[in-house]
Amino acid sequence: MSNKQRKILVTSALPYANGPIHIGHLVEYLQTDIWVRFQKMRGHQCIYVCADDAHGTPIMLRARQDGIEPEELIARVAEEHQADFAEFRVGFDNYHSTHSDENRECASLIYQRNSDQDHIHRRTITQAYDPVENMFLPDRFIKGECPKCGAEDQYGDNCEACGASYSPSELKNPISAVSGATPVEKESEHYFFKLGDFEPMLKEWTRGGHLQNEVANKLDEWFEAGLQEWDISRDAPYFGFEIPDHPGKFFYVWMDAPIGYMASFKNLCDKTEGLEFDEFWGPDSDTELYHFIGKDIIYFHALFWPAMLHGANFRTPSAIFSHGFLTVDGQKMSKSRGTFIKARTYLDHLNPEYLRYYFAAKLSSGVEDIDLNLEDFSARVNSDLVGKVVNIASRCAGFIKKRFNGTLSDNIAEQELFNQFIAAGDSIANRYEQREFSHAVREIMALADRANQYIDEKKPWVMAKEEGKDQELHDVCSMGINLFRVLMGYLRPILPATAEKSEAFLQIEPMSWDSLQQPLTAHAIAKFKPLMTRVEAPQIEAMVNDSKDDLAAQTQAQAEKPSGPLADDPIADTIEFPDFAKVDLRVVKIIKAEHVEGADKLLQLTLDLGGETRSVFAGIKSAYAPEDLEGKLTVMVANLAPRKMRFGLSEGMVLAAGPGGEDLFILNPDSGALPGMKVK
Ligand code: 2FM
Ligand code: ZN
Repeated sequence: MSNKQRKILVTSALPYANGPIHIGHLVEYLQTDIWVRFQKMRGHQCIYVCADDAHGTPIMLRARQDGIEPEELIARVAEEHQADFAEFRVGFDNYHSTHSDENRECASLIYQRNSDQDHIHRRTITQAYDPVENMFLPDRFIKGECPKCGAEDQYGDNCEACGASYSPSELKNPISAVSGATPVEKESEHYFFKLGDFEPMLKEWTRGGHLQNEVANKLDEWFEAGLQEWDISRDAPYFGFEIPDHPGKFFYVWMDAPIGYMASFKNLCDKTEGLEFDEFWGPDSDTELYHFIGKDIIYFHALFWPAMLHGANFRTPSAIFSHGFLTVDGQKMSKSRGTFIKARTYLDHLNPEYLRYYFAAKLSSGVEDIDLNLEDFSARVNSDLVGKVVNIASRCAGFIKKRFNGTLSDNIAEQELFNQFIAAGDSIANRYEQREFSHAVREIMALADRANQYIDEKKPWVMAKEEGKDQELHDVCSMGINLFRVLMGYLRPILPATAEKSEAFLQIEPMSWDSLQQPLTAHAIAKFKPLMTRVEAPQIEAMVNDSKDDLAAQTQAQAEKPSGPLADDPIADTIEFPDFAKVDLRVVKIIKAEHVEGADKLLQLTLDLGGETRSVFAGIKSAYAPEDLEGKLTVMVANLAPRKMRFGLSEGMVLAAGPGGEDLFILNPDSGALPGMKVK
C-alpha cells in the first residue's frame, strides 16, 4: 500500500425518519463504521456522512396519525437515531437530514441540469386515488383481494399467499389503506427521468470495477429487460420538496434521498475550514466516494444515482458496496419470536461492542445474508474477547503493578514474536481494506492464541513465586502487555470503546496503525480495570423478552386499524400521558355479534355503552364465534373517530390481546362492571 494520504468520502444508506434503528440496520452502519475507522487509523482523510431520509408518504401519514406535523416527527426521530448511533459508536463526521436547505438546493440543481439536458419529460398517467383523503395512493397503500388466488388483504403489487405480481388496478375489491375508501382512477401529469438516455454510460460504468461481481451480473439482467424511464414526481399532499416552478408537484422521496449524501457533506463543508465541496463532487474529482448499501436498494444506487449525477455534471461513485440481510437464529427477524430487536432494546441489555465484534466476525465483502445466532454470539464473544484478548492483559497487568511499580521493562523479551505480530499487520490491513472483516478477525484471533500460548509456556504465576526470577517475570509480563497492545490496535476499528479503555490503561495516545510497530518499553501503565465482562444468558433472554413486549403493546394499539404499511411498521412509539388521557375507554356489552358477508377476519359487533349503541368491526373472527360473544362485557375505545370501512362504518374499537389467530382474547372486565363505565 502506498503511503499517499487518500481523500475518501463514505456514506451509509439514510434511515427513514419514521421508525427506530434495529439490529438489521446495524449490520450496515457497523460495517461502514469499521471500514471508516480503519481508514482513519491508516492516516487517510476519511469522511463519513449520513442523514435521515425524511420525505415521502409513509412519513406524512405517520405524522398525521400521531396528530403532529411531519417536521416534529422527523425532529424527534432524528434525535432517537443519533442517540442510538452514538451508543453503538457509529462515528459519523456529519449527520444531517434530507429535509434541509442544502438538500433542497442540491436536488433542485440536479433536477434543473438534467432537465436542461432534456433528460426529464412530462406525461399524464392514471393512478389510484383516495376520494376521501384526496390523495393519490402509492401501491403499498392499496389493499384488496388477489386477482389470481382471491386471498384477502393483499398489497397493491403482489400477493403474499400465492406470490403473484400484478398492478393495483387488477386487485379485486380494492380499498385504500389510509381511509378504507374504494380508490378511483385519476389522471395527473408526472415527471420522468429518462434513464434510457444513459444506457451506454451505465453499461460502461457498471462494468468498470465499481460494483461487486454478483451485483454487476444482476445489472445485466436489468439491462436486458430494458431501462424504463423513472417517475420522479408525486402530487400533493406529499411531504417533500416542491419541484421548482411546478406548484403541487413534489420530488419523489427516492429522487432526493441519495442527494442527501451530498447535502450532508455540503453541510459539513459549510462548518469545516478547508473542506471543499467541489473537490469531492466535482466532475474531475480525484477523491474516492463509496456508498455502503443493502442489496435491496441496488437499483437506485447503481443505475438512477450514477445517471442523475452524470446528467448533472457531477462525479460518479468510486464504488457501491452492497451487503446482505440479517437473519436471527437462521430466520427472518420476527416480532413474535422476539428477534426483531431495536437498537435501543439491545442497548438496554448488552454492550454494543459485543455486536460490533460479532458482526465483524461474520462480515465479508459479498452480498450473502449474515446470521446472528444468539447462542453462538455469547459463546464467541466470551471465548474470543473476554477469554482470549482481554485475558492477556489481565494475566500480566497485576504483576507489573505490584512488583514493578507499574512500569514495563526496558526491553522486548521476544523480539521475533513481536515482529511476527507486526508482520501480520499488512495482511490484516488488507482484509479490512477489502471488507473481509471475518478474515481479519480470524487472523487477529490466531495472534491472540499465540500470545496466550506464550504466557502459558512462560507461566509468570510460577515465576512470581520463585527466587531470582524478577527480571524474567518483568520481561514476560511486559511482553504480554505489548502483544495485547498490538492486538487491541488491530481490533480498534471493531472495538473503539474497548480500545479507548485500553489506551487509558496503557497510558498511550489513540493508536494509529503505524504507531503499533514501536513497542512500549520502560513505560508506565495505569491500574488494570476489567475491560469487558462476559455475556450472560439472562441478558439475552431479557432482550428477547423485551422485544416481544414491544409487539404486545403494538398489537393492541393497532388492532382493527386497516392493515397496511403503517400497521406493518415495527414501531410502537411511546405516547405522553396527555395522549393517553384522551383515550376514552368504556365497558360495553356485546349485544349482537354477526358474520360479515365477504370478510374472512371480521365480526360486526353491536355494543351497548349504557344507553347508546355502537357498531364496530373487529378482526377477531379467527378466535371467536359470534354466539360466544353475545351478552359478554368487554372494553372499547369510545372516542375513536368513526372509520369508513369496506363493509360499513366502524364506530370505535374493542380491545383485544394476543398474537392473533386463535390466540386472540378480547378484554373481559370484572363481571361487576356495568356498560358505560369508564375504564381507568
Ligand atoms: O431503504 C431505505 O431505508 C432508504 N431510506 C435508503 C435511502 S439511501 C439513499 F439513497 F438515501
Ligand atoms: Zn394470490
